[in-house]
Amino acid sequence: MQVQGFFFGVKIATLQKGHKHGSSDTLNPKSAIRNPQLLRDNHHRPVNYLRLAVTDRCNLRCFYCMPEEGIEYLPKAELMTYEEMLRIVQVMVRMGIEKLRITGGEPFIRRDMMDFLGEISQLDGLRQINITTNGVVTAPLVPALKRMGIRSVNLSLDTLDPRLFHEITRRDDFHKVMQTLEALLSAGIATKINAVVMEGKNDGELLPLALLSKDNPVDVRFIEEMPFNGGDAHYDQLWWSHQRILEALRSHFPGIEKIPDPPYSTSYNYQIPGHRGTVGIIAAYSRTFCGTCNRLRLTPQGMLKTCLYDGGVFNIKNLLRAGATDAQLSTAVLEALGNRAKDGFEAERQRLLGPVGESMATIGG
Ligand code: GTP
Ligand code: 5AD
Ligand code: SF4
Repeated sequence: MQVQGFFFGVKIATLQKGHKHGSSDTLNPKSAIRNPQLLRDNHHRPVNYLRLAVTDRCNLRCFYCMPEEGIEYLPKAELMTYEEMLRIVQVMVRMGIEKLRITGGEPFIRRDMMDFLGEISQLDGLRQINITTNGVVTAPLVPALKRMGIRSVNLSLDTLDPRLFHEITRRDDFHKVMQTLEALLSAGIATKINAVVMEGKNDGELLPLALLSKDNPVDVRFIEEMPFNGGDAHYDQLWWSHQRILEALRSHFPGIEKIPDPPYSTSYNYQIPGHRGTVGIIAAYSRTFCGTCNRLRLTPQGMLKTCLYDGGVFNIKNLLRAGATDAQLSTAVLEALGNRAKDGFEAERQRLLGPVGESMATIGG
């Protein structure tokens, strides 16, 4: 069956039933539901991935993400409650979302986060839950994450030098993050390391970070810096573009080879001969992967974003609090998907808020 049409005069996205993608490996082994839907946007891109930012708070102050002081956190009443998040995720899973990424801010500083993860991991139809964390308080939680079935964690780590770590994050927590890395590896949880590459800051860290992939089964991903820093530190030109990052890696490792990228990958992935893990480059600012973008975002206050660079489409939490039924929530999401910008440049041009500059912690990355 196909559901495609117009809602209040606006084209809505496509839902196809009988989607083979949802195979038997749902996260909840008791789940009877194999996700039956394939959700597509107005550009025919499959959409099966939701990034849920559970808090805008963070225990670090990475300068590429937020200013050191003067941050105004959202009032608690504006944040989605766990109950609301659960309901929204449930609706979206029924629509075709198969992969959920929990982000923030730092997800693990929200109270009762582990209980929430426990509940959400029981949802029927969800194939994987991944988490992006800064690793400061995560190490002791790793065994419980493993028991819940979390198979993949992305860890933000921009340097292996404790002094530089302090300079970048304005906190002294390097060793706690390394403990999290060790805990993840010994638990056998697939680990990706996210390093934002910053001119004059950590560009000397490309080599040591890439060398982490030598003896460890990690994917070390170098990310183009984006202007989501909660301030006005914009730049005309991106020095560490994906091409330049690749050139630098090639100068250290002349034998570096391109390897196939998984479907919907944000990173271009490479193998350094003899290394156990891989390295990758995320062209987040150049936005070269929008053609296969499969993701929706929910901010901590419930704003639905169909692109990282848009200003938010509508607030689904407000709709829910106004008494919307599940069917009404689905229809609103479909409508948003039916009007999705074709790429991050179009989304940015259409913003009513002015140029991007909000803190990444308020969006979830
Ligand atoms: P996987 O699901 O493991 O592939 O990770 P991911 O890249 O989707 O998520 P992660 O939270 O690790 O983000 C890594 C970097 O990619 C961050 O800097 C994100 O802001 C950036 N990123 C993630 N999704 C998008 C996107 O849709 N567009 C852009 N421009 N950047 C993105
Ligand atoms: N540019 C690029 N990546 C960023 N992140 C946070 N702020 C920025 C930025 N300004 C990354 C973090 C984290 C991920 C969710 O987003 O490194 O791993
Ligand atoms: Fe916190 Fe992540 Fe922002 Fe750093 S990038 S300040 S770890 S939310």
